Amino acid sequence: MNYFSHEFTTKIINLKMAFAFLCGILVHMICFVSVSDIYFRSTVVHGIMTNSSSIEAPARRVVFIVCDGLRADNFFEAIGTREGNTPYLRSGFSDNLQIVDRNVKILEDKIEKLYNYDKKTCYIFTADHGMTHSGSHGTGHPNETKVPLVAWGAGIHGPRSANQNELSSPTSWGLSHIGRYDINSIDLAPLLASLIGIPFPANSMGILPHVYLNVTEDQLSEIMLANTHQMLAQYRRKKEIFEREIPSFVLWKFPFNHKEETRLIKMIHSYIQFGKFNKSVSIIVC
Ligand SMILES: *[C@@H]1O[C@H](CO)[C@@H](O)[C@H](O)[C@H]1NC(C)=O
Ligand SMILES: *[C@@H]1O[C@H](CO)[C@@H](O)[C@H](O)[C@H]1NC(C)=O
Ligand SMILES: *[C@@H]1O[C@H](CO)[C@@H](O)[C@H](O)[C@H]1NC(C)=O
Ligand SMILES: *[C@@H]1O[C@H](CO)[C@@H](O)[C@H](O)[C@H]1NC(C)=O
Repeated sequence: MNYFSHEFTTKIINLKMAFAFLCGILVHMICFVSVSDIYFRSTVVHGIMTNSSSIEAPARRVVFIVCDGLRADNFFEAIGTREGNTPYLRSGFSDNLQIVDRNVKILEDKIEKLYNYDKKTCYIFTADHGMTHSGSHGTGHPNETKVPLVAWGAGIHGPRSANQNELSSPTSWGLSHIGRYDINSIDLAPLLASLIGIPFPANSMGILPHVYLNVTEDQLSEIMLANTHQMLAQYRRKKEIFEREIPSFVLWKFPFNHKEETRLIKMIHSYIQFGKFNKSVSIIVC
């Protein structure tokens, strides 16, 4: 009897261990599948129509310079004089940065010479990420995510004077007299595309940071309208895929329907038609 109960308990313990073992495998498989879903599945959605505005591009080419690891706050700090030691890019936190500044100038001189000083090149300078004091990047701290952005050349609006509604810059930058326009990195794609007049990337979620552009108001509303068409095309395609893949009993629905879309586009068109360009731009940006 004693022997039997001992065997019985052992069996139960074995079963529990097997169960725990299976649960462990299951949890690891779920983790693996969800992580590989994030890392190995492309977020690019196919079948979206591309669309661009018909206005003449303000630039013929764009030089996009991406530095490895530059922090916005250090980058813009002026040394000594208002111009700083690196007037070319408005920088000066280390010798390294001054080398970058000199090289950007050399690069621009070479490119301008190559294209016979046709004034049709625009330049965008930024960095892929910032950095903490210890050199780390990847935790999402603002020191790691805020990078400088400097744009100049064809199609770029020169500095605007500071105005109360905008973000003010730290006094150490010595730039409080001019407007500061921060953007999300995601908005760079529509900026680059509209500078050289190519269609907005179909999968881009960016909204054109129009303060950077030196174009007339009517041109700007055409470009913003094309940006709206591109976003709507993407929205429609994603909605189509969602409705096909997710069973209809799931209650979540896309909030924006065909009627709303038509109403919005009609409204933008009529503002453009009546010359109320900034009104059309402001509803797009909202
Ligand atoms: C952009 O797309 C919209 C709707 O899909 C269309 O009406 C418009 O003509 C297109 N514009 C261009 C320039 O292709
Ligand atoms: C972030 O930058 C600010 C300003 O330079 C500094 O005071 C702070 O210590 C930095 N934080 C980290 C985590 O690097
Ligand atoms: C806009 O571009 C024109 C040339 O097309 C130039 O003369 C003008 O100075 C620029 N304006 C600004 C504010 O950058
Ligand atoms: C819109 O344009 C009008 C006339 O061009 C101007 O008076 C007004 O200040 C502009 N509004 C905005 C918000 O830019």
